[in-house]
Amino acid sequence: MSKEQMLYEGKAKKVYVTNDPNLYIVEYKDDATAFNGEKKGTITGKGQLNNAISKIFMEMLNERGIPTHFVEQLNDREQLVKKVEIILLEVVVRNIAAGSLAKRLGMAEGTVLPKTVVEFYYKNDDLGDPLINDSHIDVLELATPETVKLLEQYGRQINDILVEYLKSRNVTLVDFKLEFGITPQGDVILADEISPDTCRFWDADTKEKLDKDRFRRDMGNVEEAYQEMLRRLGGVEA
Ligand code: C5P
Repeated sequence: MSKEQMLYEGKAKKVYVTNDPNLYIVEYKDDATAFNGEKKGTITGKGQLNNAISKIFMEMLNERGIPTHFVEQLNDREQLVKKVEIILLEVVVRNIAAGSLAKRLGMAEGTVLPKTVVEFYYKNDDLGDPLINDSHIDVLELATPETVKLLEQYGRQINDILVEYLKSRNVTLVDFKLEFGITPQGDVILADEISPDTCRFWDADTKEKLDKDRFRRDMGNVEEAYQEMLRRLGGVEA
């Protein structure tokens, strides 16, 4: 397997093509951004930690029948993944009110939602990733109605798996964001990452935040929180 030219550089990751037409290499960076890039910083060791954490979640989901892009971890910062074309939708799943939902609906952070909420956001930096509905997705031709249904199903299924898995590690899954892609064969699979950058994790007893909200809100001990999540998942840095 040889790493070839960089295809794309995002806020937290770089993607490279390889000599295999079906595989990419993803490199995790230490760069952190929040509020659509308005706040920028570096979290020392974040690349390694998110690589290790996302590997654990993706392997676990693969084992439980959710198709993901994850193939294998190559080293402390890189993963081999299946080539996909990313669907320009962010699927956000919420169990507890926090962040933009708490603000938009005027709910106190920490309010347990009586039912799981699934939302779609348009992955578009220039527009600031706006919340969109099924009609908007249809008009923008971001995905077919069947694919939208599948994404919601996967979102709910992944939520059920993660909630239970994290509960046994004394972590409450507040909410998280997923991205999906389409393989050259036409299959919809989970892509991107599952990490403290993309999820809200709270200690189940103390409600201490173990995720990127510590960076967003200048709470300090960001790296320590990511390390604590990796420790609770039973992982080690490669
Ligand atoms: O900010 P908001 O409350 O909408 O975020 C919901 C969830 O989605 C959080 O876990 C956040 O970390 C994640 N998210 C993300 N990338 C974005 C927006 C939100 O990972 N661009």
